[in-house]
Amino acid sequence: MKVLLLGPNGQLGHDLQAAHAAAPGGIELIPFGRDKLDVSAPAGIAETLAGVEFDALVNCTSYHKTDEVEDAGTLAMAVNAHAPQQMAKVCADRGARFLHVSTDYVFGGDRARSTPLPEDAPTAPVNVYGASKAFGETLATLAGQPTILRVASLYGVAGASGKGGNFVETMIRFGRERGALKVVDDQRMSPTATADIAAVILRMLSEGAEPGLWHVAGGGEATWFEFACEIVRQAGVKAEMTPCTSAEFPTRALRPGYSVLDTSKLAAAFAPMPDWRDSLARYLRAKGHVA
Ligand SMILES: NC(=O)c1ccc[n+]([C@@H]2O[C@H](COP(=O)([O-])OP(=O)(O)OC[C@H]3O[C@@H](n4cnc5c(N)ncnc54)[C@H](OP(=O)(O)O)[C@@H]3O)[C@@H](O)[C@H]2O)c1
Repeated sequence: MKVLLLGPNGQLGHDLQAAHAAAPGGIELIPFGRDKLDVSAPAGIAETLAGVEFDALVNCTSYHKTDEVEDAGTLAMAVNAHAPQQMAKVCADRGARFLHVSTDYVFGGDRARSTPLPEDAPTAPVNVYGASKAFGETLATLAGQPTILRVASLYGVAGASGKGGNFVETMIRFGRERGALKVVDDQRMSPTATADIAAVILRMLSEGAEPGLWHVAGGGEATWFEFACEIVRQAGVKAEMTPCTSAEFPTRALRPGYSVLDTSKLAAAFAPMPDWRDSLARYLRAKGHVA
């Protein structure tokens, strides 16, 4: 099976290539980076892909600098909504499978929510990034039969491209440099290692996954403060930890107060996602932070 990978140099794309290299399983994974296809020009996607042979397309591209996106809605709509719409159409026309990666940020507007969100919960984004990704899900589904993986709060060995690292590395660095960390404790989510999502994508490709929505996020839940406490504890960083509210740490874009994803559909069809603390331990070993 020939699988074309868009966004190969991002943290998820990187880990998908690493997981594939370790266990190819009859899949030929073809990295197809921005140099070959700039998805911010969706009108050119069909023409570029027409000359490429593939049986499945995995889209790990995204414009997700959440604060910057508030003032760049046109670019966000192109990359996060119109591009996956075109990809879905190309795949439907040639009978190829389309795996598209979306986000827990399609949720958040339900302020009273305190139980994990299943796939059929109504979307209610609170920022332009989330709205563009939610629209991308809708447009892609109208144009074809995408398998959409909603993932959350990612960290991977490559670090998010354009964001200069990831939350885990930032907490370790600032913890060591400053000896104290103040972190928001009123945003609850599912910390997720991109290595775990990569493993799910490979299984979905080799075993087949129904088109539609799939929640693929780390087992359990945490606030960013709880996540940070566990990072410094496991990494052996001595830092004084202080919780704060989002109001004390204002950002350009609103963030969901609660976006924990219910992954029971994935658990029933494939396997439960690993607990986020165990995945964090594996990541810290892989990065050499712990022996
Ligand atoms: N990071 C998170 O915390 C998080 C949370 C929830 C959902 N997600 C979703 O998970 C997916 C993967 O995220 P990630 O953290 O792996 O992202 P990432 O590291 O920032 O990678 C994004 C990829 O998109 C590519 N890209 C961006 N604009 C492009 C364009 N105009 N044309 C072609 N390629 C373009 C980048 O290419 P370059 O390498 O050339 O820049 C990069 O390879 C995305 O769909 C994202 O929305 C992420």
